[in-house]
Amino acid sequence: MMDKGTLVLFGAKGNLARVKLIPGLFHLDLCDKLPPDMKILSVGRQEVNADAWLDEIQDMLKKKFKGKYSKTVFDRFIKRNLYHCNSPDDPAAFKKFAARLSNENEFTKNIAFFLSVRPSDFALIVDQLAEHELLNESKGGYRRVLIEKPFGTDLKTAIELQTSIEKHLKESQIYRIDHYLGKSALQNILITRFANSIFEPIWNSHNIDHIQITNHEQLGVGERTTFYDATGALRDMVQSHLLQMLALITMEKPKSFNPDDIREEKIKVLESIKKIPLNNMDDHVFRAQYKRGEINGERVPGYLEELEKDGLGNSSFTETYAAIKLFIDNERWKDVPIYLRTAKRLHEAGTYISIKFKNKNTLLENANANWLVISIQPIESTHFEIQTKIPGLNDFDFRTVNLECLNRIEGDESIDAYETLMLDLMNGNQSRFLHINEVKAQWKLIDQIIDYWSENKSPLVEYIAGSSDPTESKRIFERDDQFWRKSIHE
Ligand code: BG6
Repeated sequence: MMDKGTLVLFGAKGNLARVKLIPGLFHLDLCDKLPPDMKILSVGRQEVNADAWLDEIQDMLKKKFKGKYSKTVFDRFIKRNLYHCNSPDDPAAFKKFAARLSNENEFTKNIAFFLSVRPSDFALIVDQLAEHELLNESKGGYRRVLIEKPFGTDLKTAIELQTSIEKHLKESQIYRIDHYLGKSALQNILITRFANSIFEPIWNSHNIDHIQITNHEQLGVGERTTFYDATGALRDMVQSHLLQMLALITMEKPKSFNPDDIREEKIKVLESIKKIPLNNMDDHVFRAQYKRGEINGERVPGYLEELEKDGLGNSSFTETYAAIKLFIDNERWKDVPIYLRTAKRLHEAGTYISIKFKNKNTLLENANANWLVISIQPIESTHFEIQTKIPGLNDFDFRTVNLECLNRIEGDESIDAYETLMLDLMNGNQSRFLHINEVKAQWKLIDQIIDYWSENKSPLVEYIAGSSDPTESKRIFERDDQFWRKSIHE
């Protein structure tokens, strides 16, 4: 179990804290993962009295967990919680906050700050914490800062943020989040690759035709129109979540499963992704936006209608579908296209990595290629498609059969990604957080596409909500025999 410490949640009145963080901490307590004396200090802009805050948490948890918990753990969890009103732009408030946190009768020396606030407040809060000596580890105890996504909105702003916070923090104190890395199914990619010796000899351009990394959602942008319209699918999903999946599936074998060794290999592969040739962008990138349609039999509005309803006009070029083709500049992946695609409002929700093997040296000309599909969500599973004989008198009649291995079985522990990452933060394990060099490599790649799109050089295609990938997206394929997998099974 981790050392005793205090978790300070900035932005405690926000959506993430209410939906994921506070319920997640309670769940960890129910699983006996929190040390008995750990405290949770929630910080928000609003003045809330201590008892009212505890009442709010109790209501939140009762609604979410519907009585499925032990009363003893519930009471223990409530006792851990405290509230402090502190506006990020008020230095006087920080002075009081620092005085409170420095009271060793109330708090330990180990403190982790979780910044679930507006991105424009990250640097401001770190400055204030430093100003009041709250980031100084020299008097014993750890001081760590977790920064929510996004870390910058392009390479320039990511570097500015980094320059600002590194005045006060060492790399070992900074935890840049990508919640996908907290998903157990993503960690399973490393186990699949490096705990099964059969894969390494075939994990290369001699045997792999191409890789597809898919994240499709049926949900639309919902309440987040302002955020999403300024962000788009490329920044929202590809910049971090999909590129992190790419790193895990293509990185070289790390020296060990040590956090630093894993990060070192991820950085190397991300930095080896080839720049997309500027004169050939439309063969590599594709964007589209959903219009009204139907999802599971229900009519849903188009993206522009959602914007209009929120007073944001009806002429946005923001993409809700993005597909890109990348190549990695090393021997293992020479000339192997890696396709990434993400969308809101598609026919089905699913996150999976599909690997198509080359179809060579088979005695049957029309044999289908083998596919290995690692599914992240909604189901956690691994599939392998092979050809088998159809029983009967025809010697060479065959069909494709799917070997399916469920990676999650009944009774397995179910820990949300944010829960895992909060534990990592308290335990000082950075392997599931982004190193600044990963963030830089990711933005470098994305920036060139954003620049291209912002000059409107590429048409924005429309697709009907609830449909599958827009036909025009196929233009990024290297060859005519390549196609998007429609789901993990076909
Ligand atoms: C977030 C994006 O980072 O990830 C959302 O901002 C997206 O737009 C979400 O819906 C997807 O996360 P998950 O865990 O539901 O796949």
